[in-house]
Amino acid sequence: MLTESEKEEIAEEVKRAGHARAACVDALRIVQRRRGWVCDEALREVAALVDMTPAELDSVATFYSLIYRKPVGRHVILLCDSVVCWVMGHETALEHLTRRLGITLGETTADGRFTILPTACLGACDRAPAMMVDEEIHGDLTPEKIDRILEQYR
Ligand code: FES
Repeated sequence: MLTESEKEEIAEEVKRAGHARAACVDALRIVQRRRGWVCDEALREVAALVDMTPAELDSVATFYSLIYRKPVGRHVILLCDSVVCWVMGHETALEHLTRRLGITLGETTADGRFTILPTACLGACDRAPAMMVDEEIHGDLTPEKIDRILEQYR
């Protein structure tokens, strides 16, 4: 069940957007920011607030890779798997991340610290290979740089 403050924040977002449906992604992000992900129950409640059916909102949430519909770790690593990163060393970055964290794409570490997910181009092709951790993009990834980056996220 959404909290009163979540509902209030979503209502403000709807007012700011000027049209309920236009606020749908921001409304999902409000819920996700507080809970880490968007469960079915929360999605149904958000749908009612943004004047959409749950199925319509779920298709938006599923399309938008920054909305998580399953539980994730405290930090989400989105590793770019688009063409420039592929050419520039995606495989090495993926191999290092999965070995270092002991998980594969789509999994969460046992301590709940990290989840690794694939993503389309992050818009950082000039720094490929790239990944985004939470909201921050990191590029020019090497195994050593990945180790340093992971240390920043507890
Ligand atoms: Fe990876 Fe663009 S292809 S950031």
